[in-house]
Amino acid sequence: MQRAQSTSVDPHLDRNNPAPEPLHPDRWGLTRTEEGLSLEGRSLARLCDRWGSPLFVVHAARLEGNVRRFQRTPPGRARGAEVFYSYKTNPVPAVLQRLWQLGIGAEVVSPYELWLALQLGVDPGRIIYNGPGKTRSSARAIVENDLLLVNFNHREEIGLVAQAAAELGKRPTVGVRVATSESWSGKFGVPIAGGQALSAYQEALSHSSLRVVGVHAHRGTAIGDADTLDRFLREVLGFCDALHAKLGLAVELLDLGGSLTVPTVLPLDASPLPLAEQIRRRLSIEAYLDAVVGQVEDHFRRAGRTPPRILLEPGRALTGDTQMLLCRVSSLHATGEGPEHAILDAGENLAHILHREYHEIFHVERWGDPAETAYTLDGPTCSPMDVLREGVRLPRLRIGDTLAIMDAGAYLVSFSNSFCFPQPGVVMLEEGRETLVRRAETFADMIDRDACAEAVSR
Ligand SMILES: Cc1ncc(COP(=O)(O)O)c(C=O)c1O
Repeated sequence: MQRAQSTSVDPHLDRNNPAPEPLHPDRWGLTRTEEGLSLEGRSLARLCDRWGSPLFVVHAARLEGNVRRFQRTPPGRARGAEVFYSYKTNPVPAVLQRLWQLGIGAEVVSPYELWLALQLGVDPGRIIYNGPGKTRSSARAIVENDLLLVNFNHREEIGLVAQAAAELGKRPTVGVRVATSESWSGKFGVPIAGGQALSAYQEALSHSSLRVVGVHAHRGTAIGDADTLDRFLREVLGFCDALHAKLGLAVELLDLGGSLTVPTVLPLDASPLPLAEQIRRRLSIEAYLDAVVGQVEDHFRRAGRTPPRILLEPGRALTGDTQMLLCRVSSLHATGEGPEHAILDAGENLAHILHREYHEIFHVERWGDPAETAYTLDGPTCSPMDVLREGVRLPRLRIGDTLAIMDAGAYLVSFSNSFCFPQPGVVMLEEGRETLVRRAETFADMIDRDACAEAVSR
């Protein structure tokens, strides 16, 4: 990897690693031009001039590239996996619609997300319904729509959906979300350990209104390397064996959830490895897919049973690196102590996840100049929590300069809020063309649902 000089890395990552290597913009297809960093010939600074700052920018070619990587059939295998995008990861309808046009189904967790998928024209047979918030009324909506798969988050949901199915004369295809020993637990899923998941299946099988052929295992905790993936798969496959041996259940739909990481996004905890090495060791989409398909298929063939269809629900790995957040320096504030504060027009209101994750940040106009100054990057809201990054070294900043926060395509838009400031627009960049796919929120939008809204002049 080419060495870049323009940015430095979060001090959290620095703890055991005095000289981690910053990443180069060409990883994301960015090039340096006279107007600063550009994508497909479009200057990022000009994008902000035209559409306003802050601004989310979707890179359509990269989105399609990631889709194709997930859809590929691993070498030597008859088929790959079926892919369902986790809607909550980046709920921009134009992105979701594009994913559907490219053949990606929908993984939804609420009546709103189900409604949205149907509005976007997603075939109900390509929708998976998950989530811990099912109610009597959502159970009816789920059952009425004849979805590909409904996964029970916990045992108590089984009766709810079974009753809705019986009342509506339907027989939905269902599975149970199981929790492996390293998965998120508590609210999420039924632990395999202690036989809890098996007994949930026993209960599900006792309802004639349910077609129980699915297993759902979303790990939740990150799958960043081959060993973690291997442990996860072995535990889930062992559970499939137990279902077959103890309950005679042949799994037809094996839903392995999401959790694959984006290589260039790292957790903000100490790591003894240099940044570039950490990234190199992280599983690519291809390596993940090869391992999943290979391990599942080989396991079932060895056991003399028909391999199930493999369903995946990627969120961050599919869209994380396909979007960036552009923002500008509103103000500079030197306190005389520690790094100067650069107050940006985007903060935790749009990029809350930066409190937990390292994302590369580029100085758009002067990437490549010496990173001579340390800054604390603050957001604009009146909250002491609104700090995006401390101690980042950048070329000298001026008011109005543009920064690009990379890998903004997962859990930024979803967790954005209108605290003090309206939310930004979203532009899709495709073959050099810019399309505004979500206009920025206006002040009037922010009070549109309020009783006094008519009285306010717009
Ligand atoms: C059930 C389910 N599937 C898929 C995902 C997507 O996860 P990720 O973005 O880690 O791939 C999530 C997100 O937490 C989820 O809850």
